[in-house]
Amino acid sequence: MQTITMTINGRDVTAEIDERTLLLDFIRDVGGFTGTHNGCLEARCGCCSVEVDGDIVKSCNVLAVQAAGRSVTTVEGLAPQRVAPMEHITTQSLAGMYRPLDALGAQNEDLHPLQAAFHKCHALQCGFCTPGMLMVLKDYLEDNPDPTREDVRGAIAGNLCRCTGYQHIVDAAMEAAEQMREPAAADG
Ligand code: FES
Ligand code: FES
Repeated sequence: MQTITMTINGRDVTAEIDERTLLLDFIRDVGGFTGTHNGCLEARCGCCSVEVDGDIVKSCNVLAVQAAGRSVTTVEGLAPQRVAPMEHITTQSLAGMYRPLDALGAQNEDLHPLQAAFHKCHALQCGFCTPGMLMVLKDYLEDNPDPTREDVRGAIAGNLCRCTGYQHIVDAAMEAAEQMREPAAADG
């Protein structure tokens, strides 16, 4: 057993854990951030994607002890105003967009541009893949703000969606990229 601390979405989370504990399980079971999903446990589906110190990892493929002392961002961290108290986090928080807006005093404009674009473009059906898609696309668009549709398809090649056929996910990514470029364009 080992006691570790990591920062998840700005909150310090400390626990004594078995050294074999996966980062995915630490995030969900200790941190209470259940938006990060377990789809395969084999690093194949991308549902568990999170950022660790700004780099995307599949959290089922990383030990929690490897993230000790680091800063982890999950899908809930995309719209921090909408992170509910621990006791209110449910599976319905999977994309950070399903809770009634007035439950947290949050407004639609509090969403990350990718979340808003997924909502606008109908880029999810069951939503199980959505947290991983959002995290991977956030990381990608921050580095590649003007992608082609083929670029976006390449970026999400490690993320499986059983529902949408990907078309609307690509639509949403292109829409979000435009929104994310706008402030920079205005500054320039
Ligand atoms: S649960 Fe990690 S890649 Fe599928
Ligand atoms: S929306 Fe159902 S798996 Fe992608």
